[in-house]
Amino acid sequence: MSGHGDAQPMKSRRSGPLRGVAEVPGDKSISHRSLIFGAMAVGETRITGLLEGQDVLDTAKAMRAFGATVTRRGQGDWTVNGVGVGGFREPDDVIDCGNSGTGVRLIMGTMATTPITATFTGDASLRKRPMGRVTDPLSLFGARAYGRQGGRLPMTIVGAANPVPVRYALPVASAQVKSAVLLAGLNAPGETVVIEKEPTRDHSERMLVGFGADLQVEKTEEGHVITLKGQPELRPQAVAVPRDPSSAAFPVCAALIVEGSDILVPGVSQNLTRNGLYLTLVEMGADIEFRNPREEGGEPVADLRVRFSGDMKGIDVPPERAPSMIDEYPILSVVAAFSTGRTVMRGVKELRVKESDRIDAMARGLEACGVRVEEDEDTLIVHGMGAGGVPGGATVKTHIDHRIAMSFLVCGLAAKAPVAVDDGSPIQTSFPIFESLMRGLGAEIERG
Ligand code: S3P
Repeated sequence: MSGHGDAQPMKSRRSGPLRGVAEVPGDKSISHRSLIFGAMAVGETRITGLLEGQDVLDTAKAMRAFGATVTRRGQGDWTVNGVGVGGFREPDDVIDCGNSGTGVRLIMGTMATTPITATFTGDASLRKRPMGRVTDPLSLFGARAYGRQGGRLPMTIVGAANPVPVRYALPVASAQVKSAVLLAGLNAPGETVVIEKEPTRDHSERMLVGFGADLQVEKTEEGHVITLKGQPELRPQAVAVPRDPSSAAFPVCAALIVEGSDILVPGVSQNLTRNGLYLTLVEMGADIEFRNPREEGGEPVADLRVRFSGDMKGIDVPPERAPSMIDEYPILSVVAAFSTGRTVMRGVKELRVKESDRIDAMARGLEACGVRVEEDEDTLIVHGMGAGGVPGGATVKTHIDHRIAMSFLVCGLAAKAPVAVDDGSPIQTSFPIFESLMRGLGAEIERG
């Protein structure tokens, strides 16, 4: 799986209306953080609704290697007995984070201010991704990093024996980098400050406050200034992980493009740092009702009733919205292909350093399906073909990228001819029940 095992070809074909309730699994970002923060608290953290995707399972394994006791009690029901801030022990083997950039970058941050050494690796996708964006700020704390050319994994981090606090302005809008610096700051004396120009997902800030850290966020002209007081004693928490809006995006977008569909997707996060796709879809003319707004697991959520929307129109997606929908551009570009007119996505160069180069992967895949696409380093433009207008009939390369695989399987549900993907196995990393959930709604997705 995900670059470690056999490829799993998959295929989807034009399907009848999608109907029913799509209960998507727990949020991936919050699941990683609940295990890591639980490992830094003293006592037992109880997690319910944990995403049991491979990325999160790899983080659970890593937390055990650093000394925490992590136990699965039942489906999504886990406990973590933490070792306290600064209490990580040196792992006796290489830490394999599989496909997960979030896992490896957050864990590097967590151990970087403890006097231990750890070596990290991952699958063929993760080994291509840049780690300099986290090791640069971690070196300011006094940690040292030894990796391959271009700051790639495998990489060894030697944690700082006498860490100093850091003031760091993020050069890229990245919640992973922000979180790595905050996690390193936990075991540094004094105040660590992170400044972000554009707000990115704020789960680390919200959860750290829940775990008892002294963390303040100030909105200034520079952007968000996040100040964390080092060396707190974190208190264990009961974490109820809300459903993942990035996973919900797949059934939602499928229902929008498959004729006659009408589905309910309960508990979708409306957190302003995560809801950019939903704002964009509504602007394009999507028929989405946001019902029963409430709080779940500390996140604002709503139940989404989604109906087929045959007259969606392409728009210019505001570039400042990118951080709040960074993982959703692949599926948005599929919806764009079934809309009329151009959808212009600017300010998206971060997509080039995700699990794959997502601008390239989407452009090549959509072209193979008969859709006209333009791209440059920082832009993707999709020329829509209207409802039901995409020819399809292609086999698309997924490049060990779960979101590319799911996006093209959704594309095939409304295209004229079936769409195949060369490898659907990476879907296990984030949405292990994707195939059964989509089939339950009436989607014709098959293996082979
Ligand atoms: C994540 C942050 C984002 C996102 C990733 C999850 C997180 O990455 O793409 O899927 O949980 O912090 P970047 O920080 O690289 O933008």
